[in-house]
Amino acid sequence: MPQPLTARRSAAISGRVRVPGDKSISHRALILAGLATGRTRIEGLLDADDVTATARAMQALGATVSRNGDAIEVLGQGVGGLGVPDGALDFGNSGTGSRLMLGVLAGYNMRVVLTGDASLCRRPMSRVLTPLAQMGLRVEGEGDTLPLTVEGTDDILPIVYELPVPSAQVKSSILLAGLHAPGRTTVVEPVPTRDHTERMLRFFGAEVKVETREDGSRAVTVAGDAELTGAHVAVPGDPSSAAFLVAAALICPGSDLVIENVLLNPTRTGFFDTLREMGADIEIVDERDEAGEPVGDLRVRSSGLRGVHVPPERAPSMIDEYPMLAALAAFAAGETRMEGLSELKVKESDRLAATAAGLAACGAEARIEGDDLIVSGTGAVRGGGLIETHMDHRIAMAFLTLGLGAEEPVTVDDIGMIATSFPAFVPLMSGLGAQLG
Ligand code: S3P
Repeated sequence: MPQPLTARRSAAISGRVRVPGDKSISHRALILAGLATGRTRIEGLLDADDVTATARAMQALGATVSRNGDAIEVLGQGVGGLGVPDGALDFGNSGTGSRLMLGVLAGYNMRVVLTGDASLCRRPMSRVLTPLAQMGLRVEGEGDTLPLTVEGTDDILPIVYELPVPSAQVKSSILLAGLHAPGRTTVVEPVPTRDHTERMLRFFGAEVKVETREDGSRAVTVAGDAELTGAHVAVPGDPSSAAFLVAAALICPGSDLVIENVLLNPTRTGFFDTLREMGADIEIVDERDEAGEPVGDLRVRSSGLRGVHVPPERAPSMIDEYPMLAALAAFAAGETRMEGLSELKVKESDRLAATAAGLAACGAEARIEGDDLIVSGTGAVRGGGLIETHMDHRIAMAFLTLGLGAEEPVTVDDIGMIATSFPAFVPLMSGLGAQLG
């Protein structure tokens, strides 16, 4: 049954909080821990449906995953040590879990079925299947969407592959397959995407080389026949979850909010950088390094915003934040033009269409031109809309947040999917002053 929820205009969003662990890093921590020899201790792992699906898949493949106090402990089987699962691996809503796991499975001579929910079963898998087929993965049947039956190989080949789409999932999938290969596997990315896999592979002891070229492209190389060793991982707060809190603080008058321990990896901070260009008062306090990733505390105070131009090359560093940015652009003065958003069409929903439709339902002026989204802000948003979330957690959270600053209440049709990435979203926001109910 769908669970609708309404957001109402709220006073200050203030306090000091932490957001749950970063989703991208959580998936990778579980996967690399399962491929390592020995024990890995993970602190701050995101406790949400997407990550639980990856943990279950690693367990089905032979890793032991258990809770020890606040931490998760994984007893890995070594690269090459996983075994045949009893049934299909179900990744629920998670593109990251399923695509990264296809890379892992490419190096195993066993038949495995992968499946997921209705949204995941519509998402393109050819972007990973094409390079993995070059390395030796075989797919039964013709399809390139889940459910898929695949069979990897003991004789996987190293490749050099230039990404046709800027996707960290595709890059990561190839690098994970490359761990088994006899030689070096290189992924070239014309525009840098999030680099957590590279960082964490190094952290677990793999040999990884990153070369940034003059034109800004990057070549990431992993040495094959790799050995990974269990490690102690601290997962920082997810900037993609923090984005909703930051947005709420900006549009609700009198807000003063501190979000502690947020991941500040430059491949993820495009949203915060863009907001500062728009005039947002966001301060970074106590920037530090934790387990190979930069983190810091964010202090955000309500701010008047102005429209800006967001260039296409910035898209990978804020790809999951566009629904929220577009909603904020409606509160800004003037036009915000967000360019190069084709990847938004193949997320948990067509986020380009869902964002434009949601803004229109709230009386904001938004239009799509090719792969660009243009929002004409007037400094205020009417609200009053009923938002179709299309089974998409980020559309639900972005429009609930918009409703906190709009003149009339905003209702989203279903909040059920929020559990995939940020199960505590509603109580956490309510505790800071958000009127949700
Ligand atoms: C992710 C990469 C992004 C992002 C997704 C998580 C990852 O997808 O949208 O939420 O953890 O690698 P793409 O790499 O396909 O753009």
